[in-house]
Amino acid sequence: MKIGIDKIGFYTPHMYVETEDLAVARNIEPGKFTIGIGQERIAVPPITQDAVSLAANAALEILTDEDKEAIDYVIFATESGIDHSKAASIYIHQLLGLNRNTRSIEVKQACYSATAGIQMARGHIALNPESKALILGADISRYGLQTSGEVTQGAGAVAIVVSADPKIMTVESPSVYQTEDVMDFWRPLYSDTAFVQGKYSVDKYIGFFQELFAEYTKKTSVGLSDLEAILFHLPYTKMGLKALKSVLEDANEADKERLLANFDTSKKYNATVGNIYTGSLYLSLLSLLEGNTNIDPGARVGLFSYGSGAVGEFFTGVLQPNYREHLYKEQHEQMLANRTALTVAEYEAQFNDTLPVAVENIDLPTDKDPATICFAGIKDHMRQYVRKDQ
Ligand code: HMG
Repeated sequence: MKIGIDKIGFYTPHMYVETEDLAVARNIEPGKFTIGIGQERIAVPPITQDAVSLAANAALEILTDEDKEAIDYVIFATESGIDHSKAASIYIHQLLGLNRNTRSIEVKQACYSATAGIQMARGHIALNPESKALILGADISRYGLQTSGEVTQGAGAVAIVVSADPKIMTVESPSVYQTEDVMDFWRPLYSDTAFVQGKYSVDKYIGFFQELFAEYTKKTSVGLSDLEAILFHLPYTKMGLKALKSVLEDANEADKERLLANFDTSKKYNATVGNIYTGSLYLSLLSLLEGNTNIDPGARVGLFSYGSGAVGEFFTGVLQPNYREHLYKEQHEQMLANRTALTVAEYEAQFNDTLPVAVENIDLPTDKDPATICFAGIKDHMRQYVRKDQ
């Protein structure tokens, strides 16, 4: 049975800061951010967007009534969780009006967990071929003002429907995966910004990719020539390029040219949004699918998922007939084009506009946020969301 990605939606907040402006404000040569890091813009979330609202907005654009009836598994992948107990997927279940007979959970392993969600969903669909699963990958990446990670911040979500006979891409077996206990990036419970050993995280990422790609080719005999593109988790776009180049040294010219050109297409959305952690790999997939003009159905793509800490996985997918007809290219391009540019001072004010700790009651200014679904505040310690279209 063919199982894979049937639909994929995306949402990012309505504000961003140019990395060139950020570089000037930080007294750094702009080329370091735009070329050395490979980021043009980073998304800036208002206080009225959290992981739940980002994910709900991403799912809103793709779900039909038929999908809502068929979805019986919601897997919310995030490292920006809003509650230690209650799964973020339950808020989504309510906001989207999903079927009552649904299993709803939240999964965590840094940026890797959306991939875990997709693989869990494949098992579920294999046992229940009529079902569909909704996977959400939503995060706000925060390192702190004037840190070396600052330029790699971002915010956004992807929403993916996994089903039998998918319209966009089948996910193939086998895949290869590995775990190693490393402290390259983590966020203790008491901190709302990440701790990172930057250079170490880069080395670990590349090491994981090289090992997994070698393992995959050994196991399947699928090599560079069999892949139209290799997609990466993109904490910043230069990271994927470095990893890709590390396996191209002995490649033939045709493979090098194709894989580098397609990487270029696959990084476009990420370069203007920033790191969205769990959703980054799938934002890059979307960037490739919506941006390419020459990749035919039937093409095979490789996907490298990495979550610090660390877990990695390499797997492949095959693009389905007429996959282009099932994308939301215009809506995504419009959403990115309609965003508002912030000055660095405005971005810093947004960054510092956080919820007081342990607040019992608060109302948030949802009228300033053009998103359909917003985090509206807290009432008696319970988070409140609004859906403006109802
Ligand atoms: P840094 O020390 O500020 O930068 O931090 P650098 O000195 O390494 O320079 C970056 C690049 O800019 C270098 O190129 C420079 O040569 C170049 P490279 O050697 O890498 O090819 N450069 C210039 N280029 C053009 N013009 C110039 C110029 N000047 C310098 N004028 C670092 C960089 C990525 C370490 C930092 O931003 C950081 O810590 N980021 C956060 C961690 C991160 O993203 N790690 C990636 C791997 S881990 C991961 O992906 C998981 C993650 O998503 C979390 C999760 O799983 O949940 C992060």
